Amino acid sequence: MSSKFAVIGGTGLYAMMSEFEMTRQEIVNTPYGEPSGPLVHGRLLGHDVVFIARHGFTHRLPPHSINYRANIWMLKNAGVDSIIAVNAVGSMNQDCPPETLVIPDQIIDYSWGRQHTFYAEDLTRVVHVDFTQPYSESLRKTLIQTGEKAGLSMLNKGVYGCTQGPRLETAAEIQRMIRDGCDIVGMTGMPEAALARELSLEYASIAVVANWAAGLSDDPLSMDAISNCLQQGMTQVKTLILQVFQ
Ligand code: HPA
Repeated sequence: MSSKFAVIGGTGLYAMMSEFEMTRQEIVNTPYGEPSGPLVHGRLLGHDVVFIARHGFTHRLPPHSINYRANIWMLKNAGVDSIIAVNAVGSMNQDCPPETLVIPDQIIDYSWGRQHTFYAEDLTRVVHVDFTQPYSESLRKTLIQTGEKAGLSMLNKGVYGCTQGPRLETAAEIQRMIRDGCDIVGMTGMPEAALARELSLEYASIAVVANWAAGLSDDPLSMDAISNCLQQGMTQVKTLILQVFQ
């Protein structure tokens, strides 16, 4: 594998697996301000891989306060060309119950007010990137084929609806998202994916289902229940990432 990979850890993934040999941590200043935390450099099964915890190592940043531009710029600047993003989600699709994984192929963006483009200032021309397919098809294929080989419980496509958070959705909002065609709902998929595209980085997501979306289950949505499912899901995420580098 000749690409240099980054893993962006989401809720429940604040460090890489034990097989990751950290070589150094780097504090990076970017033209867009402070990233979520230091860039963690290391080796995974003989490959150069960098890691960043999207919410910070102590989960101090809510989804709308994450400096997505600084994070993506930092990865590009480090010579990364492929990003595996890990995102916690709620599910609206019976085929992906809690604790399973989804490799989404589409996005609907309901977030607002985030710094969502590198092409905002000092422009000599207006830039519109093609985002018809928001994720890298080749990286998605790698994740799907690897997951299938490893026998993981995984859905190979799905529409990711990105909400603003940090509150969870209302039952009516989830019903609207179902009508829109969403399969999963999270708060961090955008603008990250679009920013990666603007800098020509390969980008795919491993979405980890933490709960049924609001109003779809009789059980109340609690942070405890979400974290429990996420922990189970993260074991699978780590297996999948390890197998990618095998
Ligand atoms: N909604 C939005 N984001 C989430 C959810 C959810 O139900 N679960 C985990 N992240």
